[in-house]
Amino acid sequence: MRSHLLNDLTAEHYRRSVTEGVERVAAKLATADRPFTGATVDALAPRIEGIDLDRPLHDTTAALDELEELYLRDAVYFHHPRYLAHLNCPVVIPAVLGEAVLSAVNSSLDTWDQSAGGTLIERRLIDWTAGRIGLGPAADGVFTSGGTQSNLQALLLAREEAKSDDLARLRILASEVSHFSVQKSAKLLGLGAGSVVPVPVGADKRMRTVALAHELERCVRDGLIPMAVVATAGTTDFGSIDPLPEIAGLCARYGTWLHVDAAYGCGLLVSPARRHLLDGIERADSVTVDYHKSFFQPVSSSAVLVRDAATLRHATYHADYLNPRRMVTERIPNQVDKSLQTTRRFDALKLWMTLRVMGADGIGSLFDEVCDLAREGWQLLAADPRFDVAVEPQLSTLVFRYIPAAVTDPAGIDRANLYARKALFASGDAVVAGTKVAGRHYLKFTLLNPETTAGDIAAVLDLIAGHAEQYLGESLDRAS
Ligand SMILES: Cc1ncc(COP(=O)(O)O)c(C=O)c1O
Repeated sequence: MRSHLLNDLTAEHYRRSVTEGVERVAAKLATADRPFTGATVDALAPRIEGIDLDRPLHDTTAALDELEELYLRDAVYFHHPRYLAHLNCPVVIPAVLGEAVLSAVNSSLDTWDQSAGGTLIERRLIDWTAGRIGLGPAADGVFTSGGTQSNLQALLLAREEAKSDDLARLRILASEVSHFSVQKSAKLLGLGAGSVVPVPVGADKRMRTVALAHELERCVRDGLIPMAVVATAGTTDFGSIDPLPEIAGLCARYGTWLHVDAAYGCGLLVSPARRHLLDGIERADSVTVDYHKSFFQPVSSSAVLVRDAATLRHATYHADYLNPRRMVTERIPNQVDKSLQTTRRFDALKLWMTLRVMGADGIGSLFDEVCDLAREGWQLLAADPRFDVAVEPQLSTLVFRYIPAAVTDPAGIDRANLYARKALFASGDAVVAGTKVAGRHYLKFTLLNPETTAGDIAAVLDLIAGHAEQYLGESLDRAS
């Protein structure tokens, strides 16, 4: 069994095993003609249930053969140009290389004595990101597992900075289309039901600042404490960017912590063409960035940044065995002092390799390409009488629905769109997402693949229309 431990004696075994795995995946990526096979839970579950985990195969090739059947064949492939569903990007090769290195070396970024240079690399990337945002000389931050954790940590700091023991009086103001992790965070932070005040958005799905001013005033009038405003720079559904300068102005006036959730829109930080869309972000107290959304990084890779490094102390605990207090005076850089996690992956290495091989403009140009594509897609949809498109995109998301000429009943239109999404997924020809707008079912393309073309978009729209028409034809048959 020791031959499976990665060490000086097994370097050759490691090279062969990993190469064999890489070759399988490369073959898969090269030949996948659809993003998905359409495999159902009922088809896959018995195969996975049928594996006796107490009877190992003792052979890498056999395990990879088995994995082909269980997973690789029927995985959902984000690199395919017709995967258009959620906020998942195709990944860049330098980052995948970084992933291979970090899992083999297996540094843990909680303490200096488990990571050495890894800690310094992470710190450089935090400084680089804070510099891109413009947070100023006292900024700091830490890598996290994702936007959900980054938002939680930012709101923890905001809660502590509100300096009130009366949690029931604390309020977080966020647009009605902000990410649900804001609500989840409020719950985890012990804030009561109703502590997240939804601020209305306009037709463009951006927070209405008049409404925000109204809610802030109401909080003060009612003796409540607006502990944070969450502005979203790239909403999950619409890619809309809240008006950051106006929101920052209101936060300054009310002394409220401004958190900018740029989980999606952070790609603009490196965009050669669209950086101005984030103007105002530099006035935030904290910012969430998800490199695993718009920097083409493998999951997971995210960070929370703060304007004032001192606020990170709210996440600090000292343990004698790990990061005793004396290490602070000894200036030993232990990242666990700033993190909600203890043992933590060296995800920063992926971004490091990406910047060193491709450069920031390279990444930003890829993000610009998908934003340009969304604009083309919007024009296609706006000109197509079969579809209603919800919002002109600021980033790379299109929300639309099929509107059959023959059907006026809103519930019938909902059903046709739901059916089309399901049928498309079952066919595996394309994967699209769905959401609700004003209570009605819509479909969604999140465009993050520069290989997707306007031709792909047009073809997928035809497939959607075809499935919806088929459903409507069959319902008419059933009714007659
Ligand atoms: C705006 C926004 N914030 C936060 C998140 C949560 O990020 P994660 O899935 O990385 O936890 C998402 C995820 O889609 C998001 O769109």
